Amino acid sequence: LKMTKTVKKTRDFVQKMKETDKTIIFFYGSQTGTAEDYAARLAKEGTQRYNLKTMTADLEDYDMNLLDTLPADHLAVFALATYGEGEPTDNAVEFWEHMISGEDVPEFSTGDYEDAEKPLTNLHFVMFGLGNKTYEHYNTVSRSVDEKLQSLGATRIGERGEGDDDGSLEEDFLSWKDDMWKAVCDFMGIDFLAGNSGPRQATYKIQEHTAEEVKDFKKVYHGEHQEPKYIIGSRPTYDSKNPYAAAVSISRELFTTTTDRHCLHMEVDISGSGITYQTGDHVAVWPINAEQEIAKLAGILNLTDKLDAVLTVSNTDPASTKLPFPVPTTYGAILRNYVDITAPPSRAFIGQLTPYAPNDAAKATFTLWGSDKEAFRINVADARRSLGTTLEKILGAGQTMDIPFDLLIESVPRLQARYYSISSSAKAHPTSIHLTAVILNYKPDVVPEEVVYGLATNFLHNVHGHINQSGAIEPKYEISGPKGAHIVNEKCVKVPVHVRHSNFKLPRNSALPIVMIGPGTGVAPFRGFIQERAQDSKNGKKVGPAVLFYGCRHPEEDYLYKDEWPELMKGIEGSQVITAFSRVPGQAKTYVQHRMNEHKELVWDLIHKQGGYFYVCGDAKNMAREVNNKLVEIAMICGEMTEDKATTYVKELRARGRYEEDVWS
Ligand code: FAD
Ligand code: 2AM
Repeated sequence: LKMTKTVKKTRDFVQKMKETDKTIIFFYGSQTGTAEDYAARLAKEGTQRYNLKTMTADLEDYDMNLLDTLPADHLAVFALATYGEGEPTDNAVEFWEHMISGEDVPEFSTGDYEDAEKPLTNLHFVMFGLGNKTYEHYNTVSRSVDEKLQSLGATRIGERGEGDDDGSLEEDFLSWKDDMWKAVCDFMGIDFLAGNSGPRQATYKIQEHTAEEVKDFKKVYHGEHQEPKYIIGSRPTYDSKNPYAAAVSISRELFTTTTDRHCLHMEVDISGSGITYQTGDHVAVWPINAEQEIAKLAGILNLTDKLDAVLTVSNTDPASTKLPFPVPTTYGAILRNYVDITAPPSRAFIGQLTPYAPNDAAKATFTLWGSDKEAFRINVADARRSLGTTLEKILGAGQTMDIPFDLLIESVPRLQARYYSISSSAKAHPTSIHLTAVILNYKPDVVPEEVVYGLATNFLHNVHGHINQSGAIEPKYEISGPKGAHIVNEKCVKVPVHVRHSNFKLPRNSALPIVMIGPGTGVAPFRGFIQERAQDSKNGKKVGPAVLFYGCRHPEEDYLYKDEWPELMKGIEGSQVITAFSRVPGQAKTYVQHRMNEHKELVWDLIHKQGGYFYVCGDAKNMAREVNNKLVEIAMICGEMTEDKATTYVKELRARGRYEEDVWS
């Protein structure tokens, strides 16, 4: 069995490494940019400290069938995130299918491995996984790939690293990487201790342009992302690298009487875009940083007068072709649209800023917060301070400092999209996507006097203010000025979005019952499910009952879509909303799982006797687990099972796709 493949040169990473004289390649499987950021940081550190020849690589850009051709003295480093319910990230799907979910022994480019079946004996690799312990399938992707590579004959260098996004991912990463470098230096035959800490080598070069030069540019980017990809001769396609600027057609406040809490129902128009979605999918919203954050940071970094200046960013290493955002652009657009200045800066970045401190006191604080985990946690990470606020706390109000702008671009991660469960049915609303987002504002425990505004939700809240011209815009959050590409005119605001496919789907057979557990905004996809059943029923299809367990604080405050349910459920026989209110004065605190308990016979009848499907959406931390346990309990009581048997029963429901979760933390 000989396997040969013709490979397009551009996808051949081994060839590329040869041409550019590289020996270590850092592959990333990244959804929200963290894995990509880690890969870039490691590659940079390898070059800077150990004089290694490194490059980074997006998994989807290269032909991974060529893993067997990487020379034995080269190294492949993987930074792989696990997303959602144990899934690979979008850019790693092909790799995942090739390695794990495809054939037992995946095909590689060369070699005759009829007997030995160890095509990767030449390969040496390093593995770091990014996951979230709140989810059941913690780090599944990196663990599975690690195991598979070894079973195919590859050798791992150093320990497999794992980071927990629910804990302190950054600290997990930092504490793993020192030992990793030791192992890599051993492998490469380099003295680890001799690692140099000479002057910083820049990753990016910055060139500012004169007004004359700017006149000759075809385009300056003011917040657009990648140029759309065109399917030959057809429409552009939109994906996680290239969002579609969708006009917001409707934006409504869903909470009724509360003034300090907000939840938005928003509809974006996708007609004519070629975008389609399926009921149960997710929509990604691409936020922008608030004007206040931009102004604060620009002030501190002496950039206020330069925000409109046009610049080009290029790679100092000619072998790198990827840029973090399209150029030419402006300082303002970079701070507003492309880099995440709202999230707390990393400890590593604070450490890197030490040499630029304007005085000894600031230098001492940069050193402390950049090295001491506890000081960093209290003052930056848990305080949820933005880059601007962190610098302000270090320097003192009104103080400024100069840092190389290319260092900021290199070290501050790019702004990332946030996901929302689509709250409409694609059958009922093929040309619009509805989302249901609760606005996030909170006071961190470590600094209760400071208010933190969630980035994407406050961006949406702001859009809401513009659309309704209600003047209700949070004074802290102004959306971008006329060049921000979001505000089209006084009434029309466009929000960049893309759709992400999910496995959270109605049963194929619409006659089967569904039981949905969705407290809070967890109700979002179920509005889509119920709309779909209503539509099917209207079209003369036989539809099974749809029972929704919904929980919120108070029936008069935060009961989402309260007025819609009766109309929607009219045509669906056996349907009902069972509510649980947790904060009604004088009443016991009630959660959805308490209601499940009261209605256990109904749940058991729909799920067990009628072969229905069970869905859970919302809080991943406590609710999802407690609901799972409640279903086990119901199986014990109504199905007269032992605990072991009931646990297995529920596990099997999951394995068969009849217990689906769409949860987040
Ligand atoms: P960010 O600026 O991203 O801030 C969020 C971060 O702030 C958190 O990660 C946490 O680190 C921190 N934080 C939050 N609260 C506190 C606190 N009290 N103390 C200290 N730190 C805190 N949301 C919806 O509203 N509706 C949906 O339908 C929905 N569906 C989702 C589906 C999926 C698959 C996923 C992954 C998430 C979904 N979310 C949904 C959540 C959503 O993606 C965002 O995470 C949420 O809206 C907050 O985004 P933000 O940019 O406003 O906040
Ligand atoms: P609480 O905030 O009053 O405790 C939507 O957020 C609803 O889910 C609210 O009524 C909230 O109640 C409730 N909730 C909080 N924790 C929960 C849990 N562990 N299980 C189920 N519902 C929960």
